[in-house]
Amino acid sequence: MTKNERTFITKADFMLHGGDYNPDQWLDRPDILADDIQFMQLAHTNTFSVGIFAWSALEPEEGIYKFEWLDKIFDDIYSIGGRVILATPSGARPAWMSQKYSEVLRVNAARVKQLHGGRHNHCFTSPVYREKTQQMNRLLAERYGQHPALLMWHISNEYGGDCHCNLCQNAFREWLKEKYNHNLKAVNDAWWGPFWSHTYSDWSQIESPSPNGERMVHGLKLDWRRFVTDQTIDFFKNEIVPLREVTPNVPVTTNFMADTFDLIPFQGLDYSKFAKHLDVVCWDAYPAWHNDWESTADLAMKVGFINDLYRSLKQQPFLTMEMTPSLVNWHKVNKAKRPGMHLLSSMQMVAHGSDSILYFQWRKSRGSSEKFHGAVVDHDNSPNNRVFQEVAKVGKTLEKLAEVVGTNRPSDVAILYDWDSNWAINDAQGFGSDTKRYPQTLQQHYRTFWEKDIPVDVITKEQDFSKYKLLIVPMLYLMSEQTISRLKSYVSGGGRLVMTYISGLVNEHDLTYLGGWHQDLQEMFGMKPVETDTYYPNDRNAVRFRDKSYELKDYATVIEVNGAEVEGIYQDDFYADTPAITSHQYGEGKTYYIGGRLEYRFQSVFYQEIIKELALEPTSDITHGKGVSVQVRRAPEKDYIFIINFTEQSQSVTLGSTVKDVITGEELTGHLTLDKYEVRIAEKQK
Ligand code: GAL
Repeated sequence: MTKNERTFITKADFMLHGGDYNPDQWLDRPDILADDIQFMQLAHTNTFSVGIFAWSALEPEEGIYKFEWLDKIFDDIYSIGGRVILATPSGARPAWMSQKYSEVLRVNAARVKQLHGGRHNHCFTSPVYREKTQQMNRLLAERYGQHPALLMWHISNEYGGDCHCNLCQNAFREWLKEKYNHNLKAVNDAWWGPFWSHTYSDWSQIESPSPNGERMVHGLKLDWRRFVTDQTIDFFKNEIVPLREVTPNVPVTTNFMADTFDLIPFQGLDYSKFAKHLDVVCWDAYPAWHNDWESTADLAMKVGFINDLYRSLKQQPFLTMEMTPSLVNWHKVNKAKRPGMHLLSSMQMVAHGSDSILYFQWRKSRGSSEKFHGAVVDHDNSPNNRVFQEVAKVGKTLEKLAEVVGTNRPSDVAILYDWDSNWAINDAQGFGSDTKRYPQTLQQHYRTFWEKDIPVDVITKEQDFSKYKLLIVPMLYLMSEQTISRLKSYVSGGGRLVMTYISGLVNEHDLTYLGGWHQDLQEMFGMKPVETDTYYPNDRNAVRFRDKSYELKDYATVIEVNGAEVEGIYQDDFYADTPAITSHQYGEGKTYYIGGRLEYRFQSVFYQEIIKELALEPTSDITHGKGVSVQVRRAPEKDYIFIINFTEQSQSVTLGSTVKDVITGEELTGHLTLDKYEVRIAEKQK
C-alpha cells in the first residue's frame, strides 16, 4: 500500500482528546459542571462524547423533552474551543418506556423476557423501540445539527448481544426467506437437515438457537449469528435515518469492542460488515496492563493486532473512543496504570492509526456500578492528582501531533481475519475444545512482524489482496468457493500465500467439502491435507526445518504431496518423516502450508526467509532489543516515528539516521536510551 495522503475522518485537523462526559449525572450540581469546564482546559482536552446514557434526562416522561441542560453543555464546551461527539441515547432507556412498551425488553436464549434495568438490552427488532429512537434522534439532529461544536454522531453504545423474542424469531425467518429465495429445501440442504431429524417442513418451525436445542445445527447457528449482525446493523441504519437527512455532512460512528481478557477482536458481531455502514471506525480499548500472566510487550502486541484490524476495516485512521486513564472496574483485578503507562498506551494507539485518545470517562460517577472506574476527574475533584496530571501530559503531547492526524500506515503484509470462520470453528465439535484459539493463533503470526517492526494490515476476506506482497491465512476453517477463487487469483497473479492446518475444511454453510480438500486448493498448494491429528495438552511432536528441530503441539496435519516442495518433516508418531511444511510455485506466485502448531521460534525463522526474499522492510531504520516497538505514520513529507519501550527496564535503541524529537525539538542521532515505559516520538523528513 502506498497511499500517503491524509484522510481527515472527522474533519477535525487536530488530535481529539477527551472522552465520555455524563453531565446528566450532575445536573443539580452547577458548581461541578463549572469545574468541569475549567478542568477540561487544564487537562488539555478538546472533545467530549455527550448524552450516551442520557435518555431519561432528555425525555423524563413520554413526549416531555428537556434539552436546555444539553444546550448549555454544547455552548460551554464550545466556549473553550471544544467539540461534541453527540450520542444517540439508545444504549439505555428510561423505565417509563420498558413499563409501557414491554416489547422493547430483550428476551434471552432460554426465552425469558428480561426485566428493566442495566443497559445494552433492547430488542433490536421492536418497531416501538425503532420509532422511539428515530424520534429522539431527529430531535437531537434538529436541535444540534447546526451547532458549531458538533463534530460527529456516536450511535448508541457498544452494540452487542441478541434477542430471541417473537418479533426477532419472525425477523429471522424473513431474513432466511430472503437469503434462500423462499426455498425451504435450500435451508434444509444448507443446514444438513436430516441430521437428528432437523428437517423443517414449514418456516414457522424454525427458531433461533436455544441453550439446549438447536445449537447442534451448525448451519443454523452460523446463519443466526449473521442475522444478528444484519439485524443490529439494520437497527443502526434505522437510527441514522434522521441524522443523514438533517445532518448529511456529520460523520457517524459507533464504538466497537474487543474481548478482554485475552484481548481478541469482539466475537459477537461481524465488524467487517458493520464497518461498511460507518464513516469512522472506533473502538474501546481496555487491555489489562500489568497483569500477572503475560509480559507488557505480549499484551501490547495484541493491542497492536486489534488496532491494525480495526484500522484496516476502512483502510483509514480510526478513533480510540474509550480507554481508561487509570483503571477499570470490571476486570477480575482492577489494577492502576503505573506511572508512564498512560502516555505509553495512548501513543501506541496513535502509532497504529488512531486520531484520538478519548476516555471512559471524564468524571467519576458518585454512585452505582461505575463509581470506582477510573476517570480524568476523581471524587477528590482536583486537577492535582497523578492521574489528572498524566492525562494533561497526554493532552500536551497530542497537541504536538496535529500533523499526524489523517496519516496512514502503508503495509506490504496482510493477515486475514474472518468472523464467519471464527464462529464456525468454535462451533465445530472436533479438534480440541480448548485449543482452537483462532484469533490467538493469528496474533501469534502477527507477533513475528510486530517484533520486527514490519507493518501489517489485518484484513477481511472481501478486501483487495492484490496490493500485498504477502498474505497470511492461518486456520481459515471456513472458506467459500468465492474466497478460494480470490486466493487463487492472488497467488496466480504473483502473491505469496501462507496457510496453516485446519484451513478450507468447510464451505460458507459449514458443510464439509466432499472429495477431500478443494481441488483448487490442492492445485495451489501441490499437496493435500489428509488427516488432522489433535493432541492432548501434554502431547508433543517436533518438526525438522532447515536442519533444526522445532516443537509442535495441539495440531498436526498428515500431508500427501503432489508436486509441492517439502520444507519440513515431522519427527515423531505414525507420520514421522512425512511432510509437515510444504511450498509450491503456482502461477506467478507461491504458496506455503504449515501443517502443525509450531513453537514461536519456528515462525520467526520461517518468516525471516520470506521477509528476505520479498525484501519486506521494517518501518524505520531504528534497531533495538526485545520489547521495544517502532511504529510509523507516514505524512506526505515526513515520517512520524513512535519508539515505544514496553518493558520494565531501560532500553537502548540505535537510530539509523538523524531525526527530530517532536516533543523537545532536539535533533537525535546515534543511540538513545528509553526508560521503563518511555515513548519517544520523532519526525524524519523524506
Ligand atoms: C465500556 C462502555 C462504557 C463504560 C466502560 C467502562 O464498555 O462503553 O460505557 O461502561 O465500558 O470500562
